[in-house]
Amino acid sequence: MRKVTVVGAGQVGSTTAMRLAERGMANVALIDTCGDLAQGKALDIAQSLPLTDSTSTVTGGGDYGLAAGSDVVVITAGFPREPGMSRSDLLGRNAAVVREVVRAIEVEAPGCVLIVVTNPLDEMTHLAWRITGWDRHRVMGMAGLLDGSRLAHFAAGELRVPPGRVKPMVLGGHGDAMLPLARFTTVDGAPLSERLPAVKLRELEDRTREGGAEVVSLLKKGSAYYAPSACVARMVTAILEDEDYEVAASVRLQGEYGIDGVFLGVPVILGRGGWSKVVELPLIPPEIECLRESSRLIKERTDELDRWLEDHSS
Ligand code: APR
Repeated sequence: MRKVTVVGAGQVGSTTAMRLAERGMANVALIDTCGDLAQGKALDIAQSLPLTDSTSTVTGGGDYGLAAGSDVVVITAGFPREPGMSRSDLLGRNAAVVREVVRAIEVEAPGCVLIVVTNPLDEMTHLAWRITGWDRHRVMGMAGLLDGSRLAHFAAGELRVPPGRVKPMVLGGHGDAMLPLARFTTVDGAPLSERLPAVKLRELEDRTREGGAEVVSLLKKGSAYYAPSACVARMVTAILEDEDYEVAASVRLQGEYGIDGVFLGVPVILGRGGWSKVVELPLIPPEIECLRESSRLIKERTDELDRWLEDHSS
């Protein structure tokens, strides 16, 4: 059976491990540096599987050796955003964690596909790619699917249709540089922009942009994990099943959309071995400009991160 490792056994990581184990398409390893947390969560998840048809095994602990030979590794290790904290505030705090995790994964699972979930997302994905130096198709961040899922939820509520009938499209960075696209979001095949007035669309887009913060402010402690884990599990499934699934993910652009050398959320085709190509939507000039502005913002932060990496090169 294939193998998926989830690093970080907190809310997002353990829920992701549970979703994957319940699907039964891979053996799951859960790793966390915090005491026996991962072992306990893995045991608890494993004890739920007799109630399912799943034949997956779930193991957990603090040893990176558990990741040996993984096909896919998901990184959720780090610190969640707290109320009032921006994703950028998390930059330095989580960079050290991601660097430690990636260095260990390079040794234990050198052939894996890496999905980064730790925030700030585009920056942490850039860091993981930079450290590994792997082919860009094997390193991606999970964000666009989550942002799109939030937009689909809000749009479906507004139109009173089941959420699965909304096919969302959200590009750009995960956070303030996000670009929800009502023109390319469809409801039963028709553009969302033709179903709702501009003022309502703006409201939905703003709420999507603040989707994570809205959950954080309600939870009071920690950040969203049900929707994020569902999105990660969907992406892992697409990879393991070699689906050629079109999904928005944070990937390193090399000339696509006229952007070079930046991790940014764009639609890609996802299957075995990672993503195969970027889908280039026919954007109009203001949309292209927003995407480029988004990439400039992220580039500033990844430049900061590259300096951080040089200063902490030991
Ligand atoms: N190696 C392994 N695990 C680590 C490390 C490390 N170096 N450092 C921290 N962790 C673990 C923590 O012990 C904790 O169990 O990462 C886990 C993070 O879990 P939570 O605090 O519950 O955070 P969670 O809500 O799961 O979010 C994780 O995903 O969506 C993003 O913004 C979110 O960056 C955050 C990440």
